[in-house]
Amino acid sequence: MYNPFILTDKTLLITGASSGIGRATAMEASRLGAHVIACGRDHERLSQTLHLLEGAGHIPFEGDLLEPTTIDRLVSEVPALDGIVLSAGKGLTLPFQFCGREQFDEVFNINFFAPLELLRQLFKKKKLRPGASVVMIASIAGTGRRSVGNSVYGSAKAALQSMVRYTALELAPKKIRVNAVCPGMVNTPFIHSGALTEEQLEQDRASYPLKRYGEPEDIAHGVAYLLSDASSWVTGTSLVIDGGITAK
Ligand SMILES: NC(=O)c1ccc[n+]([C@@H]2O[C@H](COP(=O)([O-])OP(=O)(O)OC[C@H]3O[C@@H](n4cnc5c(N)ncnc54)[C@H](OP(=O)(O)O)[C@@H]3O)[C@@H](O)[C@H]2O)c1
Repeated sequence: MYNPFILTDKTLLITGASSGIGRATAMEASRLGAHVIACGRDHERLSQTLHLLEGAGHIPFEGDLLEPTTIDRLVSEVPALDGIVLSAGKGLTLPFQFCGREQFDEVFNINFFAPLELLRQLFKKKKLRPGASVVMIASIAGTGRRSVGNSVYGSAKAALQSMVRYTALELAPKKIRVNAVCPGMVNTPFIHSGALTEEQLEQDRASYPLKRYGEPEDIAHGVAYLLSDASSWVTGTSLVIDGGITAK
């Protein structure tokens, strides 16, 4: 059956695959026919992801992306790739006055430097095939939706989106595409870090035009489009998936 969105036999590397959006993306990609290299830190959660994948040829990769040797190890071990999804990340909700260098490092290291260093090394070592698609998971916190306490996280995601455009330009001659996906609030462990109470989450949820937060699959479907050949003329852009909240 004709389907321009299939990922048959594409080899994809997905960070943050042990939870939330990364896991849902790994599952969706496997259903669409891809072979997934699923990366995460937590052995148990990563094993659960592997069990949820359809088809064969999936590989787990365990490691903390903030450890200097992890990226080297990952880059040397992976085969040639048709796509990467950089979903590993963490949030921080803290008033600006308490955000010193330590907080900036903590947030920028995993949300900004780690994905870009991984992309840089994969490109340099020629691990990205011509036609490969790179998808960075950014956030509406970096674009249209600013909220108190999110300055450092939002700035890291804004910087990431800026790099998406620069890298898209520089990698285009090799036919490698780079795009961002910017989710609104999505039901994953990420939003239950304790920054907002359940009551505050409920109020915020009600403010969304579509009257719900996203599910990880809502984001995975957008990522799958950007990984597929259906988006082969799309690069340097950001796909907002947010239940309409930034339209307000
Ligand atoms: N959920 C939302 O509302 C939302 C909204 C906008 C943007 N985002 C972005 O979406 C991405 C995924 O978030 P999520 O909601 O799926 O969060 P999540 O469920 O908390 O998952 C975070 C993932 O990142 C991995 N990770 C964190 N630090 C890592 C490190 N140092 N090294 C390797 N892996 C690391 C975790 O690995 P382990 O589980 O193995 O520790 C986990 O797989 C993040 O970049 C986040 O900023 C989320």
